[in-house]
Amino acid sequence: MAEDGLYGDPDLARFYDLENGWADDLDYCRDLARSCSSVLDLGCGTGLFAAKLAQQGPVEVVGVDPAKAMLDIAVGRPGGERVRWIEGDARELRLDRRFDLVVLTGHAFQVFLTDADRAAVLTTIACHLAPEGRFVFDSRNPRVQAWTKWTPDCSRRRLDHPEIGKVEAWNDVSHDPTTDVVAYGTYYKVEGGERVYASHSKIAFPSKMQIASLMGAAGLMVLEWLGDWSGRVFTPTSPEIIPVGRLKTGSFPELPNRLGNG
Ligand SMILES: C[S@@+](CC[C@H](N)C(=O)[O-])C[C@H]1O[C@@H](n2cnc3c(N)ncnc32)[C@H](O)[C@@H]1O
Repeated sequence: MAEDGLYGDPDLARFYDLENGWADDLDYCRDLARSCSSVLDLGCGTGLFAAKLAQQGPVEVVGVDPAKAMLDIAVGRPGGERVRWIEGDARELRLDRRFDLVVLTGHAFQVFLTDADRAAVLTTIACHLAPEGRFVFDSRNPRVQAWTKWTPDCSRRRLDHPEIGKVEAWNDVSHDPTTDVVAYGTYYKVEGGERVYASHSKIAFPSKMQIASLMGAAGLMVLEWLGDWSGRVFTPTSPEIIPVGRLKTGSFPELPNRLGNG
């Protein structure tokens, strides 16, 4: 999995928060976290969720992301000093301890392009969940074909960056129907300037059935499938696929060192 410049390039990472603020998804996850004493945020990006949780405490929060440029922003947030930030890959992470809640927010699950990668991250979730812990993540429903709106014409927008001023942004996109992998470009052009900041990304749109079929082998079970962040139950035309779940009954994957379990 090559590093995505959208997250790995410091120039591009500074645009992330302009386009991705606090919304229903993070409200829902924060509500889930209310009774938790520990939360693991996989693919935490610029750390909006993790830092806010830690700031509001008391809760122990760990945020994991392979993109240093995103973590550099996360560290500087209010509350960021209370989070343990780890530069790492959610497919391979083994912290040798467990959490009351494991989340992947902001469609981070879609960065995993193959069933093997998805299975690996689900196994990581299972390896870090406490016996009564919960996990939640979101993935856009392929039936809704959100990518059809990511053309230059539909996606052109103007942003106001606090440091660099007005910015024009747009995307372009292509969809591979055999894999449901979407390749998209993201472009930022500072108004009055010449330079275009560009990145090329790939994300997957697995179906609910595909995601469900990987859960059992990873040692996870889904308690409910939501279809949006207002908490509606999933239907075939829901915008989102949101599994909320726990360890499969009787499943408690062995950790390398049980003494270290949190
Ligand atoms: C769409 S962003 C979501 C960020 C954040 N969770 C949010 O809600 O804004 C996807 C994030 O997944 C991260 N990512 C990419 N590959 C990853 C991997 N193998 N393990 C963990 N995170 C990864 C990216 O660096 C990026 O920060």
